[in-house]
Amino acid sequence: MSVHQLIYQSQSLVPFTPLDLDHLLLKTRAFNQTNDITGLLLYTPDGRFLQVLEGEHEAVRNLYYQRIAHDPRHYNCLVLSEGASDFRTFNEWSMAFRPAQAQDLRRLLAPVPAQSTALLVPRPHTRPELLALLREFLQRPEPELATELSW
Ligand SMILES: Cc1cc2nc3c(=O)[nH]c(=O)nc-3n(C[C@H](O)[C@H](O)[C@H](O)COP(=O)(O)O)c2cc1C
Repeated sequence: MSVHQLIYQSQSLVPFTPLDLDHLLLKTRAFNQTNDITGLLLYTPDGRFLQVLEGEHEAVRNLYYQRIAHDPRHYNCLVLSEGASDFRTFNEWSMAFRPAQAQDLRRLLAPVPAQSTALLVPRPHTRPELLALLREFLQRPEPELATELSW
């Protein structure tokens, strides 16, 4: 059965402290577990979120369009991709979390180079290459010093 995947980015209204993030993740994971939603959340010290949501079509769309997009704690919500996939990228996590740096997001979201052959094939609605990069980013060992400094 196919899974619906949605990737968006947004900007926090005020900076989230580590405690704010803990509270957000606690509620998020409980809800997502009950609703069979998995995914990844990245947060940068300058307040940008990048999130992947994956699960049953209606469950993901309701969560994003009815709840998350209306959440007053962030703004400029921009959907980067949305569509069906044969498998989940973050199967093991009700919502994985990683702090990231602004340059990490720039690198992850860098456009496909113009000469790339990827432009010659029809673009799927999901972004498998971005999802693979995000999965790889999640699994990289965390640079402890950089993470501490960023908070
Ligand atoms: C960046 C961000 C990501 C969020 N991700 C989720 C999520 O994955 N699952 C979830 O249940 N709530 C998530 N939330 C919280 C929802 O926006 C909302 O606060 C929550 O669903 C409670 O909604 P309610 O107060 O209308 O019941 C997120 C909020 C923010 C700001």
